[in-house]
Amino acid sequence: MARLTCSFCGKSEAEVRNLVAGPDGVAICNECVGVVSEINQADLTYGGDVVLTGISSLVTNDPRVPGPVGEIPQASVAIRGGKVRWAGPESTLPLKYREDLPPLDCEGRAVIPGFVDAHTHLAFAGDRAEEFSRRMAGEDYEAILRAGGGILSTVRATREAPFSDLVSHTAARAQRMLEQGTTTVEIKSGYGLELVTELKQLRAAAQVQEQVPIDVVTTFLGAHVLPPEYASDREGYLRLLEEELLPACAPLAVYCDVFCDRGAFSPAEARRILVAAAHHGLRPRLHANQLGQTGGAGLAAEVKAVSADHLDHLTADQAAALTEAGTVAVLLPAVALSMRTPSPPGPMLLEAGAIVALATDCNPGTSYVESMQLVVALAVLEGGFTPAQAVWSATRGGALALEEEDKGWIRRGALADLVILDAPSYLHLSYRPGSNLAWKVLKEGTVVAGV
Ligand code: NIG
Ligand code: FE
Repeated sequence: MARLTCSFCGKSEAEVRNLVAGPDGVAICNECVGVVSEINQADLTYGGDVVLTGISSLVTNDPRVPGPVGEIPQASVAIRGGKVRWAGPESTLPLKYREDLPPLDCEGRAVIPGFVDAHTHLAFAGDRAEEFSRRMAGEDYEAILRAGGGILSTVRATREAPFSDLVSHTAARAQRMLEQGTTTVEIKSGYGLELVTELKQLRAAAQVQEQVPIDVVTTFLGAHVLPPEYASDREGYLRLLEEELLPACAPLAVYCDVFCDRGAFSPAEARRILVAAAHHGLRPRLHANQLGQTGGAGLAAEVKAVSADHLDHLTADQAAALTEAGTVAVLLPAVALSMRTPSPPGPMLLEAGAIVALATDCNPGTSYVESMQLVVALAVLEGGFTPAQAVWSATRGGALALEEEDKGWIRRGALADLVILDAPSYLHLSYRPGSNLAWKVLKEGTVVAGV
């Protein structure tokens, strides 16, 4: 019974002798209590005061400023208490900001909002380099999963991993993301498919926010695939999700996602899980139409999901339905790169007027990519986005996909999460793929990378 195991390391009561109730009433052993309180001691404080000057080009994403990304040349940004107080042409910077705030001279560099990576599976253990090599030699992703590998091999590794290892590996990935300009990252569970490990993943994601100056938004993806122990009992797993996993995991998550596709869950099953999730306060998102025309996009529009992600197989009618529903289309071009599949249909969605976000989908199977800069470059070079559309989708688009209203743009009242690029314009992101162009990264006005 889950009650008799440590929900962090999974050891049984007999193995650890002393199981105590954790802060949320779930059992935790003596050893893990120590790890958790040690990690909690990390002291991350933001709320900086600074005035950025010498900005060659400022991407505001403010719709009141002309142009697709509200670009202001020769700009300045005043930040107080971690929030943007003023953004505009430097020649009009009010004297009080110039005099009162410590300056940071950008010396002719461009500034963009911090990237908001709205789709990742960052809390995983192990890697699948060997599977990658087999795929590159022609083996099929879905066949590998059917044979018990793929997602299921990461499930095995993540179930086995001690909590502290899961935290340190996830934090290391988040730190590399931060250094490349990502200031908010969504992290899904879904490599546990049973109570202990789903909780372990969500708690690891929460710990990352304590260790790394990055915002973490958590999503419960217990309905990723059927776990092996329920391979011939779909109904049993759906009931486990409804009766045990969702009630226990919901307090640790904001969203519920379902992999609604071939080899995973049908639209009817996904609808049932999202309805149950809503009763626990979790808002819906969907992995939809990744592997085929499998009904996910239609379901996302029907339930007015916050986002529909992947969408590699999409018709114009489905794009119109998502637009009508206000569902954000989260496209993942790094998956197309790693899977050697065609780019997701950015132009079709943009044409339909949909809100489009770009994300990494960082996971050990279909996209072990941590860089939003690379995602922007792929969207432009392979996916039919203009450089402006790509940078908007990777910043403001991501913020809308996570309902983070005060992120993804640089204007009065926004959180001062931003990236100073070591380049004179955002165009360099897609023009120079493969370099880390983040010169300094600011989280709520405090320089947290490139110090
Ligand atoms: O977004 N499609 C489902 N889930 C992940 C892949 C996870 C994996 O292969 O480990 C995705 O592509
Ligand atoms: Fe995914």
